[in-house]
Amino acid sequence: MTPLDYEFLRKILKERSGLDLSADKQYLVESRLVPLARKAGLAGITELVQKMKAGFAEALTAEVVEAMTTNETFFFRDKVPFDHLRDTMLPALLQARSARRSLRIWCAASSTGQEPYSIAMCLKGLGAAIAGWKIDIVATDLSQGLLEKSRAGIFSQFEVQRGLPIQLLVKHFTQIGDMWQLNADIRSMVQHRQLNLLQDFTHLGTFDVVFCRNVLIYFDQDTKAGIFERLSRLVEPDGFMVLGAAESVVGISDAFKPYPDRRGLYRPNGTRNAKPSFAGMMPQKVAAALAAR
Ligand SMILES: C[S@@+](CC[C@H](N)C(=O)[O-])C[C@H]1O[C@@H](n2cnc3c(N)ncnc32)[C@H](O)[C@@H]1O
Repeated sequence: MTPLDYEFLRKILKERSGLDLSADKQYLVESRLVPLARKAGLAGITELVQKMKAGFAEALTAEVVEAMTTNETFFFRDKVPFDHLRDTMLPALLQARSARRSLRIWCAASSTGQEPYSIAMCLKGLGAAIAGWKIDIVATDLSQGLLEKSRAGIFSQFEVQRGLPIQLLVKHFTQIGDMWQLNADIRSMVQHRQLNLLQDFTHLGTFDVVFCRNVLIYFDQDTKAGIFERLSRLVEPDGFMVLGAAESVVGISDAFKPYPDRRGLYRPNGTRNAKPSFAGMMPQKVAAALAAR
């Protein structure tokens, strides 16, 4: 791979997914894209870049972006956010929404589904307390391939051994050969949609809780700040945002404020009615969002 190839790939990855690769990540690009190039019948990365530059290579470019984004996830990842969901967010929201009896939760980078399904199993665990409630769990991701796997709800032995308590495996999964499928009642609690966080997401409506974990960590500060600002407009004023263990709004945005004594948990800072911002959005999407207003 030449330095120019690397610059081309860095630029396209930043534009398409927000991924902000530093100047020294050639090894990462080589390790992920050489196998992809070979699979496409190309000699190496230089030929891959030539093909992308030549145009009419939208599917190949999407594969490149998917190969470079990290999709690591597991059930009840980091545990603490799900304790916060059970002990802090849900008790507050069940009380606050007792008249309308509905809850909307968005999992904004849902990968292969372990996170939205962990949320669904937490809610199911509430039993009679949510009987008759309308519960929407919306799972979105940049990658169609990951969303398809998530929709199927089929996981390997290795995947169900990572973070999933055995009682929940027995209760909510059915073994199919050496794989495990989530039962339909849990699968049907989650709606899947393809969505790029760099693009406008106002059409999703408003949410009581947004899980946006382990994705913004790959973006630069301006992109993160723009996304926080846009997220703060669709989280209800008494709702919550949850970030990953290595992520924070502190020093990046004042659109959210940390919830006291709950690591990774945030509340909107009351900017929802302020003038909309298009920071952190792809330029062509800004024009479309302005036209739609
Ligand atoms: C490391 S996984 C995190 C999964 C899950 N949230 C968790 O914490 O376990 C990051 C996910 O973000 C998705 N992603 C990357 N860039 C994105 C973007 N611009 N818009 C939406 N999703 C994106 C990737 O496809 C991947 O599934």
